[in-house]
This record gives sequence, structure tokens and C-alpha cells, in this order.
Amino acid sequence: MINFAFRRLLFSCASLVLLAMLLVPVPTKAQYCTSRGCCPGRDDECTARYYDTLCYCDVFCNMTAMDCCPDFWYYCMGAPRPTLPPTEGPKYDYCIYKGVIYNPGTSIKRNCNTCVCRLGYDGDAEFECEDNPCLVDPITIDDVNDDYYLGWRASNYSFLWGLTQPEGVLYRLGTFPPGRAVSQMVEVIIQPEGALPERFDSREIWPGLIGEVVDQGNCGSSWAISTASVASDRLAIQSSGELNPRLSEQHLLSCNFRGQRGCSGGYLDRAWYYLRKSGLLSRACYPYHSGVAEDTVMRKLQCRVPYGSNRCPAAGVTSDLFVSTPPYRIAAREADIMTEIYRNGPVQATFNVKNDFFVYNRGVYRHVKQDFTASQTDTAQAGWHSVKIVGWGVDRSIPNNPIKYWLCTNSWGRNWGEQGMFRIIRGVNECEIESFVLGVWMQVGHNHMSG
Ligand SMILES: *[C@@H]1O[C@H](CO)[C@@H](O)[C@H](O)[C@H]1NC(C)=O
Repeated sequence: MINFAFRRLLFSCASLVLLAMLLVPVPTKAQYCTSRGCCPGRDDECTARYYDTLCYCDVFCNMTAMDCCPDFWYYCMGAPRPTLPPTEGPKYDYCIYKGVIYNPGTSIKRNCNTCVCRLGYDGDAEFECEDNPCLVDPITIDDVNDDYYLGWRASNYSFLWGLTQPEGVLYRLGTFPPGRAVSQMVEVIIQPEGALPERFDSREIWPGLIGEVVDQGNCGSSWAISTASVASDRLAIQSSGELNPRLSEQHLLSCNFRGQRGCSGGYLDRAWYYLRKSGLLSRACYPYHSGVAEDTVMRKLQCRVPYGSNRCPAAGVTSDLFVSTPPYRIAAREADIMTEIYRNGPVQATFNVKNDFFVYNRGVYRHVKQDFTASQTDTAQAGWHSVKIVGWGVDRSIPNNPIKYWLCTNSWGRNWGEQGMFRIIRGVNECEIESFVLGVWMQVGHNHMSG
């Protein structure tokens, strides 16, 4: 196939113009979509030749890499037609994106990638973009939503848009891989319960005793949040509601620093060790403040426990420290986990978060194996995250295809997922959610210590 540079050489050679135009129609700068037409939706055939590559005139080009033709924005999308600066001869020494002209040296941000307009040796300018895999990948969202029988739906989240995959892992997860220490925890033997109900939700069984969804912000603190959350629920349940403070995840995050990395992640066995040895203050006494602008991943946390006479600042707030016994591990068996929740309340679960989990919107999640594209190379690149399982059920929204699920509490605020909760397929150890499940007994009665 004759290449574009060669075609332009022909073009500039007056005697051959006519011949060249007969052989190959030579597009001038503004004639890509203008000459081939626009296509609705996604159409991988809807292309025009652009230098030595292709550009696209389908609506989808606007959601993927920067592959829309230069005239796509005003010809197909009705953006204002740019007034082109005067050019010398066939040179195009500016970049164009969404109908806006950019001079060489300027840059734009596309999702998680920065694109810089650069002048090439041939005098033409083009955007050069970084090629980071982005956390929110519009292709993944599309693939998930195109597959009705998958059982879940995806959506874009503005708080995740613009982050790279590694940034998502760093900011939004924060549990270190469950290593030997968790694997070696005592596995309890659970006597099977007769018939367990088809659906179970701790929030309905123990009303007022189960914690709300929290938002970890841009801080990898799931290790502290899930631990404090399960401990609080268990304390309230085991004391029949008599002791019902929410325990302070910030206390754990800031003060359990030995071998832990604060907003850059932590180990669950060490977190539980801290609960046994030191105990936690209430959240009312020591509120969560990480994850906001000035206190994210990068900042070193300071432990500020109000000891002794320096009691909790708020009036009427207890300065008690609430202490746990050693946590125990529930075998990776569906019935065991269900029985444990049924008898004793929510459990802590650690699982391997894949990239598509971030865009979960509703339904019963299962990981989608994706086709690899240039910017989405490694779906296995993900991290470990800990959450709370509060119940289970069976989803019957797809006719003749009931899907069993776990009902879980995430820590990304109420705008994510199903009001901050998510459901994940049950009984198949999806993303290892059944592998590392922990329960705990709190010290109730007069055992909790005063700070
Ligand atoms: C996702 O949301 C962000 C922020 O609201 C927005 O700028 C972006 O265009 C959206 N992306 C898609 C593919 O809808």
C-alpha cells in the first residue's frame, strides 16, 4: 500500500498531481471523516487512513485511546469548526483535539494519561500520549454492560477517573497479601447448622449494631477499616447492644505502625495483634481523617491517642479502650462461612481485587476475563483488599439463572456500588474471597480497659 508521505511527495510534484489524484484520493488535513462519513456506536471498520496508521470516525473513538480523526470533533460531533492558523504549504504544525487547537509543547490529560503536542521532524505536529493502563477503562465498562448474562453492571466513577491502575491499588486498597501469618491462624471447626436461610443480612438481624459504609479516601487503609469494623460489629452483637461504639480505624491506622505502612497498606494479623494488646478507642474519640487532600498515602501519620487526663476532646465520649481476643480463621468452605456469620455476625474477608472490580455498579460481581489491548495489558495486576461480609443471598434477576452471592461492605463511600455495598458470586472462591476469612470475639463486660 502506498504510504502517505509518498503520496504527499507526489502531491507536491505539480506534474503528477492529476495522476496521483486519479490513483489515490489524497485527503487534505480536514477530510478524514468528512470524506468517509461518521458511524454511530462502536465500529472498528469506521476508519480513515492517517499518515502510516488509521484514525477512527465512530463515536467510540472518543472513549478509547486518542484515535479519532482530526475532523471527527466538528464533523461528527458538531463541535465548533476550528479556524485553522495559516500554514505554510502542506505543514500542520499544531495539534487538534475535540475541535480545539493546541500548539506544540502544550499538553492535555486523557483519563490517566498526559498527551503532549510535539512537532515532528517533518514539520507536522501530533499528540504523543503516555500509555499507562487506567483504572477506569471505558472498554471494560462497555464489555461488562454488553453482557447481560454476566449478572452485574459497570459504571464510571469520577473519584476513580484519571487514576492509573497502580494508583488505584495504592490509594483504594491497602491490605498486604495474606501471607503465612494469616494462613497459620487457627482454623476453627464449625458444627454445621441445620438448614440455613436462603438469604441473610446481618443488618436486619442485628439492627443498629452493624456499621455503616465508610470512605477510606485516597488512603490504602482497608486493613484498618475492615478490622475496626468487624471488631465493632462483634462487640455490639456480643454485648447485646450494650457496648455499641464504632471503634476507631484511625487509631489503628496511626498507632499500629510497627511493621505496618499506614495509608500504604497493612497486615491483618498485626492489626488484630494490636487489638488484643492495646485495644482501640471509639471513633467518636478518634475520628477518621485520612484520605483527604493533605493526609493521603504520602504523608506520615502521627499517633495522637488522648491518654490519661488528656481525655477524648468531645464531651460525653468514652475514653475506654476496647480489646479483642485472638482472631480465628474460618475454613474456605461456603457452609462454614455462612454458619459463622449466622451465629456470630459479620466476618472479615481478604480478596484479590482485579481491575474490573473498581467499576462495579450493581449486581453480582465476578471477574471478567478481558481481551488484552494496548493500554490494558495486565488484568492480573491488582492488589489485595479487605472487606466485611455481612450476609448472603441468591439473585434471581436473570430468568432461569439464579446466582448465589455474598453480601459485602466495601469502604469506598456510599456512591460506589450498591450504596457502598457489593455482592460477589458465592461458593466458587471468586478472587479468593473465601480463602482468608476471619472472625473474632471481643472482650465484653468489665474486661475492656480504660485509657
Ligand atoms: C468518567 O467520569 C469523568 C469525571 O466525571 C469524566 O470526565 C469522564 O469523561 C467519564 N468517562 C467516561 C468514559 O464516561
